Amino acid sequence: MENFQMPSGMHRVVKNWKSPKFFAMPAGAFVPNTFGREYKSFREAAFREEAFARFGLTELFDEPSNPNFIGHHYLDGAFTHEHIDLTPKGFMHVRANWMIQKPPVGGNPILDGVTVEVSPGDLWICFASEERHASEPIAGGERFICSFGALLKRPKDFSLQRCFSVLPCE
Ligand SMILES: [Fe+2]
Repeated sequence: MENFQMPSGMHRVVKNWKSPKFFAMPAGAFVPNTFGREYKSFREAAFREEAFARFGLTELFDEPSNPNFIGHHYLDGAFTHEHIDLTPKGFMHVRANWMIQKPPVGGNPILDGVTVEVSPGDLWICFASEERHASEPIAGGERFICSFGALLKRPKDFSLQRCFSVLPCE
């Protein structure tokens, strides 16, 4: 959405949130997902609530389509195309993404057209149903992210309201 604004006072990135050494790969196979990409969904995630709490987001509901996932880009040129995710009526779909491994070239998120520099261990927030998001093509290595998902009640009458005032409120 062109007029989307981060809630005032909310940071986009938490630098050095948690070392990738604390990451444990969930069980299950990766699912191929277009050129040079694959992903693995999982329901229970260590650190999920802690991750959202770092952005002041605590009233979380489960995201039904892709609760949490590992995103893996492994071929030169692989990237996530720009898109906006669906969300159930009355909710916003939000993701807290933890960079686990980053190639020497590319791999940064691009949020509403703005490239955001992140490093392994950093955590960033993406209002996936509200802002266009994509990632830079990678080169020379692999990219792993751990993406925590949540739904937030779409604001009606509290302080976030003005930040999302371009959207219809339920
Ligand atoms: Fe997305």
